[in-house]
Amino acid sequence: MDGRPHVALIGMMGSGKSTVGFWLARMDGLRFVDLDSAIEEHQGRSVVEIFETSGETHFRDVEQELLAGCLASPQPLVLSCGGGVVLRAENRAVLRARAWVCWLRAGIETLSRRVRSGANRPLLGKDPAGDLIEINRARAGLYAETAHEVIDVDSMNTSQVAERIKLIRPRPIPYQ
Ligand code: S3P
Repeated sequence: MDGRPHVALIGMMGSGKSTVGFWLARMDGLRFVDLDSAIEEHQGRSVVEIFETSGETHFRDVEQELLAGCLASPQPLVLSCGGGVVLRAENRAVLRARAWVCWLRAGIETLSRRVRSGANRPLLGKDPAGDLIEINRARAGLYAETAHEVIDVDSMNTSQVAERIKLIRPRPIPYQ
């Protein structure tokens, strides 16, 4: 597939990347990697604990290292990325180069409903909806410049989004 074997899902927390990625990988018989889970496994602690005890910069360093590692895999995979993966230029570049990148774009109402209280989301404080608005405002341009395609997910459930991606994504080269 023109040198970009992987499918990477990006977008705000609550946009459905992990669930959609899981189903898409299952439908296509591809390996699925949830980058946050990979970070937790690598660090032996939760994302919240990493933020609390080592800080966001450390989290972003690990995220960058593991993202590059996943995308270097010769085996095509479906990768669901944490919402902040686009913050670093190096991540945006490697995603564009090595993956077909799809932005799951959701409105604030959808995101707020899905993240609810903001538990397990270290970047959300006492006003999750207000924080989501701010974060989304800061990142929308980065998602747009990183993505090859955008899907507006507000009126779709996760299996509809997975079906849609299956329809529009370039076909992968079978793994040799
Ligand atoms: C983050 C999103 C989270 C996780 C971390 C930081 C962000 O992932 O990586 O809490 O910066 O938006 P999800 O988008 O899967 O919730």
